[in-house]
Amino acid sequence: MHFTESAHMSDLIHDDYRLLQVISRFGVSLGFGDKSISEACSASKVDTATFLAVVNFIQSEGRLPVEELAEEVSVAELMRYLQRSHSYFIDFRLPAIRRKLIEAIDCSARNQIAFLILKFYDEYAAEVQRHMDYENTHIHTYVQLLLEGRVPNRHASYSELAHQHHDNHASLSKSSNELKSIIIKYYASDSDTQRLADTLMDIYIMEEDLFSHCHLEDTLFAEAVHNLENEVRCKLRQGNTATKGEAAAAATDNSNDTSSELSEREKEVICHVVRGLSNKEIAERMFISANTVMTHRRNIARKTQIHSPAGLTIYAIVNGLINLDEVKL
Ligand SMILES: [Fe+2]
Ligand SMILES: [Fe+2]
Repeated sequence: MHFTESAHMSDLIHDDYRLLQVISRFGVSLGFGDKSISEACSASKVDTATFLAVVNFIQSEGRLPVEELAEEVSVAELMRYLQRSHSYFIDFRLPAIRRKLIEAIDCSARNQIAFLILKFYDEYAAEVQRHMDYENTHIHTYVQLLLEGRVPNRHASYSELAHQHHDNHASLSKSSNELKSIIIKYYASDSDTQRLADTLMDIYIMEEDLFSHCHLEDTLFAEAVHNLENEVRCKLRQGNTATKGEAAAAATDNSNDTSSELSEREKEVICHVVRGLSNKEIAERMFISANTVMTHRRNIARKTQIHSPAGLTIYAIVNGLINLDEVKL
């Protein structure tokens, strides 16, 4: 199922309970009643397009085309989402499983295997923490500079920074497999087998969640950052004042533009959308960045309260922005 912004937020959870985690990591709190996805996102100041891209990516098990989804994404919003996910794993999930593990196994000095299992678990948790610390301090810092329109080092690139690091995703998966295998094969206990089975289930669920997180980083986030990097490098090369103006516009938050009237540029964007052009194609036609196109589109949605291309088509025809024969039906 492909979710759209008009779907009820509660339907996401009914359809796939794993999306509960996505909702909470975006900072959308429960208790949204019958609010639609866009209403619930707006109430929590979350970019709806990025939220939907992540939800649909996860729900489709990564089968949707990443290139198209990446065009919809706000890199800043997606990075905040990844950082909240890191906090969830490090500060909440791993310690919670450790507590359960201690309750499930006999960690007294008499039981050497239990002691070694706990040691192995701590090493695994430390590996996850090192991995995520590196992302927060190196990779995300680099991306933050890109968001500010800067490239920190002429020779550095996201793929150089991330490529080797993301090989560690395979290593994390190997370690968690080993941990499960040791518990399953070598820990024999005649007491509390249910508690141990329950802890193992938690490890399986966390592993799946972590795999999905890593996959998102390797695909959707990588593609969105790659696009941003190209734009920033391109602008720095051009170095003309017009481009600087566009970068400022792209960086401007929607809330700064409080007028309700569409600008000429926004009307132009509507016409291109109605003609069926992608954000990338619109950017090329208008000599602006894809990020700027997204800013225009967010402003258009806010001012007109219309979010779909079909709705914009009607708007454009009724307001005489475009002739019927130009419309891609
Ligand atoms: Fe991560
Ligand atoms: Fe990662």
